[in-house]
Amino acid sequence: MFNLRLAFVFITLISFSYSQYTSRGQCEDRDRINLSVAQWFNLRRFAGNGAPWYPIASYSSNLDCLSLYFTETSTNTMNVVYTQKNLTTGVVSRREGKATWVRPDYREAIISVNHPYDGKPLVYRMVLIVYDEFTAHYSCVNLDKQNRQEFLHLMSRNRTLTSDQQRRVRASLERQHLPHGPMVNVVQDPTICSI
Ligand SMILES: *[C@@H]1O[C@H](CO)[C@@H](O)[C@H](O)[C@H]1NC(C)=O
Ligand SMILES: *[C@@H]1O[C@H](CO)[C@@H](O)[C@H](O)[C@H]1NC(C)=O
Ligand SMILES: *[C@@H]1O[C@H](CO)[C@@H](O)[C@H](O)[C@H]1NC(C)=O
Repeated sequence: MFNLRLAFVFITLISFSYSQYTSRGQCEDRDRINLSVAQWFNLRRFAGNGAPWYPIASYSSNLDCLSLYFTETSTNTMNVVYTQKNLTTGVVSRREGKATWVRPDYREAIISVNHPYDGKPLVYRMVLIVYDEFTAHYSCVNLDKQNRQEFLHLMSRNRTLTSDQQRRVRASLERQHLPHGPMVNVVQDPTICSI
């Protein structure tokens, strides 16, 4: 849906064994350090009064049937509730985490999110936000002096993107030189994901 390419099946297979995207380079490289981050972040609109965000494409392959609910807890913090149905076991899990708007200037959309599984914070730069439609979050960790691990999550207010939305998202990622080729579609089919 997001990126119909011949390479898609191949990429999907790779991504199942490597759930994040590992690439040559460092997080501080010019093309990454210079990603443009959304400005004048509006935390309240992002939290959206509890409206869910659905991950719909990602470098990571383990986000199927995941929904995220953000609740504003102060001017710079949010609670995050993660609800996910495991497609292998059918078990629904619910985890809670915290997100902190890390920019003291209250302008750039950079948030630190405690990973729901291991509690480690990952700092995400929101490279794209249309508050009532979609958002893309990017994070990067250097693995060693040559390689980095990159995280890119595209989340939507709806479980699918229209073709016009897909086009706008793709154009934006391309403008930022973020590879969307390694992104895999997340299963968000309401019948499969229903609890
Ligand atoms: C980032 O981009 C700006 C202009 O777009 C440029 O002036 C600056 O040198 C760039 N920084 C790096 C590290 O490439
Ligand atoms: C689903 O459950 C299985 C078995 O417990 C586990 O190995 C797998 O990682 C889970 N999948 C996700 C997406 O959490
Ligand atoms: C979400 O999907 C519904 C039905 O497919 C559509 O009517 C609505 O406009 C979509 N909303 C957004 C924000 O894309």
